[in-house]
Amino acid sequence: MSAVTTGAAPRVALVSGASRGLGLAVAERLLAAGWSVGTFSRSSTDELDKVLENWPDTFSWTPGDVAKDDMRQHVRTLQERFGPVDALVNNAGVLHQELFLTMPEQRIDELLAVNLAGPARLAQACARQMSVRGRGVILNVSSINSLRGFRGVAAYAAAKAGLDGLTRSLARELGPAGIRVNSLVPGYFETAMTSQVTDENRVRITRRTPLGRLGTTDEIARVATFLLSDEAAFITGQTITVDGGLTC
Ligand SMILES: NC(=O)c1ccc[n+]([C@@H]2O[C@H](COP(=O)([O-])OP(=O)(O)OC[C@H]3O[C@@H](n4cnc5c(N)ncnc54)[C@H](OP(=O)(O)O)[C@@H]3O)[C@@H](O)[C@H]2O)c1
Repeated sequence: MSAVTTGAAPRVALVSGASRGLGLAVAERLLAAGWSVGTFSRSSTDELDKVLENWPDTFSWTPGDVAKDDMRQHVRTLQERFGPVDALVNNAGVLHQELFLTMPEQRIDELLAVNLAGPARLAQACARQMSVRGRGVILNVSSINSLRGFRGVAAYAAAKAGLDGLTRSLARELGPAGIRVNSLVPGYFETAMTSQVTDENRVRITRRTPLGRLGTTDEIARVATFLLSDEAAFITGQTITVDGGLTC
């Protein structure tokens, strides 16, 4: 973990949607590695409050909605508290499993707004600040739904595939400004988002996973921390899948 801050002052990360699940695991890893971390989500959670208690000087949360707010304001709020943003983890997301033929049109708009348009606006707000300083890292949290077809997740999958396209294009555009951009592609992880998955399906996913088990949220957090660190200084424009081999 020490590699994260090697040769540099403690860094500042914005992790959207770190009130629970993968985002909170990433925030905790970064905090333990010496980063200052800001997050926002629509609501708070008990687990978030505990982490805020443990890291009162380096962790902050504000209420916010990635689909509706002015993302520049979230970046400004973080800058006022900890300084300019060195890294963005575009993690906030939402999944509604619903068949495409019967899905209300409005739901399609919502899924694209939270999982694609909002993250794109947040990436822009951060990248503008990073480009002035000539350095920065953006990590877009995608999904294996962007790589393989699954029933009932068409709009979500389209948004996540869009995020991967954003990653590659931004890597080209922002590389000369010293900004790296990658997608982190989780397989199946047990969080609030996947709480509707039945025991039967969980067993099926485990059986189809070459490593023969489900991953832990900390295994995502470790890869995220690596991709933000200087250890990954020559990695940009990539989609890094962490799924125990499920999609191989
Ligand atoms: N868990 C998995 O197996 C899995 C697999 C592939 C990809 N992912 C991706 O990983 C990311 C994290 O997922 P997770 O499993 O940790 O889900 P989660 O436990 O449901 O957490 C989602 C986080 O995003 C926040 N969020 C949702 N909508 C938001 C909005 N409109 N504005 C701001 N924050 C919002 C949530 O807080 P509020 O609801 O209070 O706003 C929460 O903090 C997502 O992008 C998801 O698509 C997860």
